[in-house]
Amino acid sequence: MSLYSAPMIEELKTAVDSIRSKTSLQPQVGVILGSGLGHVVDAIDVETAIPYGEIPGARASTVLGHQGRLIFGHTKGLPVVAMQGRVHYYEGYEMSQVMFLSRVIGRLGIKKLVVTNAAGGINTSYKPGDLMLISDHINLMGANPLRGPNFDDLGVRFPDMSEAYPEDLRNVAKEVAANVQGIKLQEGIYLGLSGPTYETPAEIRAFRILGADAVGMSTVPEVIAMSHMGIPVLGISCITNMAAGILKQKLTHQEVMDTTERVQSQFTELVLGVLGRLA
Ligand code: HPA
Repeated sequence: MSLYSAPMIEELKTAVDSIRSKTSLQPQVGVILGSGLGHVVDAIDVETAIPYGEIPGARASTVLGHQGRLIFGHTKGLPVVAMQGRVHYYEGYEMSQVMFLSRVIGRLGIKKLVVTNAAGGINTSYKPGDLMLISDHINLMGANPLRGPNFDDLGVRFPDMSEAYPEDLRNVAKEVAANVQGIKLQEGIYLGLSGPTYETPAEIRAFRILGADAVGMSTVPEVIAMSHMGIPVLGISCITNMAAGILKQKLTHQEVMDTTERVQSQFTELVLGVLGRLA
């Protein structure tokens, strides 16, 4: 076992040491900013910004709308680290690479993670532009990211997933949202797929029967990495479009980007409000 786990732990250590040589800021909370949702960074008093390319072991995202930088700074008095952009399984990376930076910020000592994404609405009462608190997820990515030797330094072999998205963090977000003008806050189940195709209408009907409210191509690996490390997560999906077959229109990445742009200010206010409450 240690034969396999040593290089992975070494890689993490090298990345953490490299970051530590650039900043001594001790982040309390990590934030992962999804497609088109990177403007939260504008409200961070940035101390250090490190391009992913300068972090040993990290991979750059190849997707439009994803910048690749790790941002260290303060917002509302809270020391934070933000991942502006992430890498996805559909880009061809291994799950260990998809989880890598989440694990790095976990090792940097964050106590909580706020993870965001763009998602398609499966629940027909949702509208594009709604924001959804993730109460739980269904992993249909076709792989469990922790498959393989367990890294005992990070967590146990069989991590509990029953409170990956704790209710107390969702309650904080609900209280914040009550004071954000024009926000429509939903709460539901996120179903994660590998992509990169959007789903078929038949798949969406099937996922609705399974209990999913929204569908996307990210987040699940990072949240599993956090559960492994014992770090609680607040997940926020921006419902950028209705999932396939619900409306008589095709799905495009442009629609996803247009909707994130439209709700950028409410989304940013929600995330910043939450960070302020976690300070
Ligand atoms: N499906 C999968 N991922 C997505 C979608 C969708 O409809 N919208 C944004 N990300």
